[in-house]
Amino acid sequence: MKRFYWSLIIFVFISQVLCSCTSGHREYSDEIDRKVDSLLSLMTLDEKIGQLTLYASDINPTGPHKTSFCEDEISNGHVGGVFNVLGTDNAYKLQSLAVNNTRLRIPLLFGFDVIHGFKTIFPIPFAEACTWNPELIKKSASFSAKEAAAWGLNWTFNPMVDVTRDPRWGRVSEGSGEDPYLASVIAKAKVQGYQGEKLSDPFTVAACVKHFAAYGAPFGGRDYNTVDVSDRTLREIYLPPFKAAVDAGVLSVMSAFNELDGVPCTANKYLLTQILKNEWNFKGFVVSDWASVSELTTHGIAKDEQQAATLAINAGLDMDMQSGSYAKYLKKLVGKHLVDEQQINNAVKRILRTKYLLGLFDNPFLYIDKNRQKEVTSSKEIMDFALLEAKKSIVLLKNEKFNNKRLLPLNKNIKRIVLIGPLANNSIELLGSWHGYGDASNVKTILESLSEKLPNAKIEFTQGASFTGTDKSNFSKAVRSVQKSDLVICVIGENNALSGEASSRSNIDIPGVQLDLLKELARTGKPIVTVVMAGRPLILNWLDANIPAIIFTGQLGTKCSDALTDVLTGEYNPSGKLVMSFPRNVGQIPIFYNHKNTGRPFDANDLFTSKYLDVPNEPLYPFGFGLSYTTFKYSDLSINKKVMSKNDSLKVSFTVKNTGNYDGEETCQLYIRDVVASVTRPVKELKAFKKVYLKSGEQTLVSFTITSDDLKFYDKNMVYQCEPGEFTVYVGGNSSDLIEKNFELQ
Ligand code: BGC
Repeated sequence: MKRFYWSLIIFVFISQVLCSCTSGHREYSDEIDRKVDSLLSLMTLDEKIGQLTLYASDINPTGPHKTSFCEDEISNGHVGGVFNVLGTDNAYKLQSLAVNNTRLRIPLLFGFDVIHGFKTIFPIPFAEACTWNPELIKKSASFSAKEAAAWGLNWTFNPMVDVTRDPRWGRVSEGSGEDPYLASVIAKAKVQGYQGEKLSDPFTVAACVKHFAAYGAPFGGRDYNTVDVSDRTLREIYLPPFKAAVDAGVLSVMSAFNELDGVPCTANKYLLTQILKNEWNFKGFVVSDWASVSELTTHGIAKDEQQAATLAINAGLDMDMQSGSYAKYLKKLVGKHLVDEQQINNAVKRILRTKYLLGLFDNPFLYIDKNRQKEVTSSKEIMDFALLEAKKSIVLLKNEKFNNKRLLPLNKNIKRIVLIGPLANNSIELLGSWHGYGDASNVKTILESLSEKLPNAKIEFTQGASFTGTDKSNFSKAVRSVQKSDLVICVIGENNALSGEASSRSNIDIPGVQLDLLKELARTGKPIVTVVMAGRPLILNWLDANIPAIIFTGQLGTKCSDALTDVLTGEYNPSGKLVMSFPRNVGQIPIFYNHKNTGRPFDANDLFTSKYLDVPNEPLYPFGFGLSYTTFKYSDLSINKKVMSKNDSLKVSFTVKNTGNYDGEETCQLYIRDVVASVTRPVKELKAFKKVYLKSGEQTLVSFTITSDDLKFYDKNMVYQCEPGEFTVYVGGNSSDLIEKNFELQ
C-alpha cells in the first residue's frame, strides 16, 4: 500500500513537471476561464467590441509625447489595448483611464515591436540566428522582455518566424532564415524567453508570433505581395515555427498581410480557425497586422469595411489592429445577424484570458515601474550579454593567405591601418532595422572600438563612399590613404533602411558604389579585410574571388563594434553559421539547400539536366556555412543499427576534431534524406544540431538520436507520418560538406 502511495506521489509529481515542460498552456486553468466567463456575462456588446480593438499611440518618438489619440475611447471602455506608447508616465495615464473611468475596470494591453531588444539592442534576428544557439536566443528575448516590461509594456509583437527563401525580401532581417527546423527551435526559444516561467512575472511580457502565414514567400520577394504555396509546402516549410511557438505557449498570433490561395490571411478561416485554433488547440488570441482588416477591401474580397469586418471576425481574427473596422461595424453586424455574438464572445474570452494570465487584473500597473526601469535598463548584465551574443553572431566567410599569411586574426603589431566604408565610423546604423526605442547614445563606432583595442596602431578613417548613390569623388582620397597603410579594413554593406519592412530590393549587390570603391582599393595591392554588414544575404562573388578575408554579419546592435573588433583581433574566434544560402546572382532566387532532386538532377556532362547555362546551381555560400580561425575534421560516422523500426530509435555518432591552431566552437549539423517515398522529398533536411567547443588538437565523439518523428512528412494523402524504406543521414559543419551513411526504416 505504502509503495502504491509513493508511486502515486511520484506519478503526480512527474506528470506535473512534464506538463509544465511540454504543454504550452500550462497556466490556462478552469479557474481563469470561470473568471473570464463571469466578467463576460457582465459586459455589454459595446464593451466586448472594445476589447477587440487595438490602437497605435500617436507618439512621435522624436517629438513631444501625446497620448490624447484615444483617451475618450479608453475612458468609454472601447479599447482593449494600445501600442507604441513610450514611457511609464504615458502608460500609467492610459492604464488609469482604463481602470478608473470604465464600468468594468478592464486593464489595457500595451504592445510594442520589441524585435531585438528594447533599450539595449541585440543583433538583428537574422544575425542572432547565425549563433545556432537557442539558449542564447532565449536569454536575449528574456533580457528584451526585462527592459521592455519596466517601461510599461506587457506585450511584444515578436517573434517573427517567417521562413524565407528569398533574400530580396526586406524582412529577411527580422527572421531566422530559410530552414523550418532551425526556425522552429528559435521560435520556441524566443517565446520561452519573452514569456518566462510565469506569465504574471513583471519581468516578462506576452509574445506574439507573426506573421501567420507564409508572409516570407511573396512573389518576386516584394513585400506584401501575393503568396501562392501548396498546402504541403505551407505545412512543411512555413508553418512549423508557428506550431513550435504555439506548443511553447505563445499568448498571441499576428495574421499576415498577404493572401494565401486567394484568401488574405486576415480573413483566412482555414489558417486562423481550422489550423490554429482547431488542429493546434491554440488558446491565445489572434491580432491582425496593421490595418489589415480594412485592407481586405483593397485585396478585393470585401466591397467595404463592413464586409471586411464580417469576413475577418468570422474567420477567427480576434483583435483588429488599427483599422477601427471592428469598432465601427461589429455592433451593426450583430444586429443584422451577419456576425454571431458568440463569435465575438469567443474572441473576447481569449483576450481577457491573456490579461488575467499577465496578472493585469490583480495589478494593472504591474508593468509600470520607474525604479525597476532604472535598475534593469542597460544594466551591466544585459550589456555583457549583448556583447557575447553579438560575437557569436559573426560569420567568417573566407580567410585565405595573403603573401603566405592569413590576415585574420589581425597581427597585433600592425602599425598603420586604414579603416574605410560607411559603416566604419557610424553608430546608429549598427543597430539594425526595427531597433525601436533602442538607445544609440552608448553605441561605439568600429573606429572607436578598434582604436581602443589596438592602442599602438595608427588607425586612420576615411569613408570613401556612402551607402547608396553614385558619388565617387572620395575614392582618390581613400586610395591615397590606403597606399600609405599596412592593412585595410573595409566595413561596407547596408544601412538600416535597406532591410526590414517595405525594404525589398530587386538587386542585392552591395549597394551604391561601395563595391567600386573596394575594387579601386584592391588595385593598390594592399592586404584588405572586408566586413560586410547587411540585413540579408548579398551577392559577394567579386569579394569571394578577390578579397582574402571576408566577414559577414547582420547589424549587431549596441555592442556591435566591440564584438567585431574582438573577432578581428582574435580575442574571440568566430563561430557563426549562415542561416540562408548566399546566391551568386538574383537569377538563382529562390535558392535553398532543402530543394528537391527533380527528374533530371544536375549533371555537368548532360545538357538536358536541371541547370543554368551561365551560373552553377549551388549558392556561393551554402546554408549552415561559416569558418573559424581553426579547422574541424569530421570522421568515423557510425549508426548503431542498419535497420530501425517505427517505435525504435537510432544512434548516430561521429568524431569531430579541432585540427587547427586555435581553440574554437563548431556547430555540428545533422541532415536526413528520405530516398524513396510516396511523394518527392528534399535532397536533405536539417534535423538536429549540436555545438561543441574544442581546444586546439582536441577531439570529441558527438551523438544524435533519431526517432521516427524525425522521418515524418505529409504523405501522398497529406497524412503526417513516416514511410518504410531507405534513408541517408549526413553530418558535417555546413549543408554542403557532409559525410553520410544509410539506414533503413522498417
Ligand atoms: C508590421 C508588423 C508590426 C506592426 C505593428 C506592421 O506594419 O507588419 O510586423 O508588428 O506593423 O507595428
